[in-house]
Amino acid sequence: MSFKAVVKGVGSYLPAQVVTNEDLARRVDTSDEWITERTGIRQRCIAAEGELTSDLAVGAAKRAMDHAKLGPEDIDLVIVATATPDMTFPATAAIVQAKLGIRQGAAFDIHAVCTGFVYALSTAEKFLASGQHRQALVIGAETFSRILDWEDRTTCVLFGDGAGAMVLSAVPEEETDGKGIISSCLRCDGSMVDLLYVDGGVSSTQTAGHLRMQGNKVFREAVNRISSAMMEAAKEAGIEPSEIDIFVPHQANQRIIDGVVRKLGIGKERVISTIAKHGNTSAASIPLAFDSALQDGRIKSGDLVMLEGMGGGLTWGAALLRY
Ligand code: UT7
Repeated sequence: MSFKAVVKGVGSYLPAQVVTNEDLARRVDTSDEWITERTGIRQRCIAAEGELTSDLAVGAAKRAMDHAKLGPEDIDLVIVATATPDMTFPATAAIVQAKLGIRQGAAFDIHAVCTGFVYALSTAEKFLASGQHRQALVIGAETFSRILDWEDRTTCVLFGDGAGAMVLSAVPEEETDGKGIISSCLRCDGSMVDLLYVDGGVSSTQTAGHLRMQGNKVFREAVNRISSAMMEAAKEAGIEPSEIDIFVPHQANQRIIDGVVRKLGIGKERVISTIAKHGNTSAASIPLAFDSALQDGRIKSGDLVMLEGMGGGLTWGAALLRY
């Protein structure tokens, strides 16, 4: 029998503490005007002391499982996309699995930074399509506030903490009504590591390190790479970008989103942007935006939804699904 991976539930979670652009302007040499004009970000959420990536992940996962009307006994695959794990090992997915009371199946992390959720979704799709797993919990969760250099204005104003999750079920193809993940495109070019990285690590410095980015160089790569991944995912599905009902991009910079939308001719009314509210939450940003659009009714059953991400690596990718 052939199976499709169908989205059954979506949830998200943001930490309570909100830090506005004005708050940051009191700490580093920046302004609300610069941040808003260059990025679209107005505020970000910061995890409380002792609040871990796994806690944010569990907050989002519980909401997604409630939405799917599924309990811990139903989930047999947990994938957490994160670049900010609780510990070096075990995987944050193992910790999340335990906190949720899931006692069966597999759990592992995926590390593709801001493209992590697209990588995780595509991976889960393959596990479910194989028939080996039945219900997957796919989470993007990050505490980037812990790897920021809070004195570096070129990076600390951009990122925030948060989590988003989807529950996907393996559904026999003839019962899907066309719903489910249709196609995806995953890419990496490791020769551009220097553009966006963390200057620490277990093997190199035995410290977590701080995020370093040549922002304008990443920016120059973004629109073309994201657009080409979306074009490939669309081509594999046999559709034109103009047929996409809803576009849920990675929330890194409003100008990148606008550039992709212009290039591919996607109507602005079909674009989900939540960057103003939470900044760049790396692997969490796509499911956070997706959940927000579900809550306000912009994503409806049967919609053709395109997701995309790009981040450290460089990694980039896109996924197309019918909700
Ligand atoms: O999600 C992972 C992937 N990451 C991204 O997609 C990020 C991609 N890059 C970007 O979003 C943009 O490049 C940034 C938002 C990071 C920067 O915007 P930009 O328009 O590329 O600015 P820039 O780096 O070229 O800097 C322009 C000026 C510089 O001053 P000078 O040299 O012209 O005097 C910076 O020093 O803006 C200055 N600047 C700031 N000024 C006020 C940089 N950061 C700040 C700041 N506040 N926070």
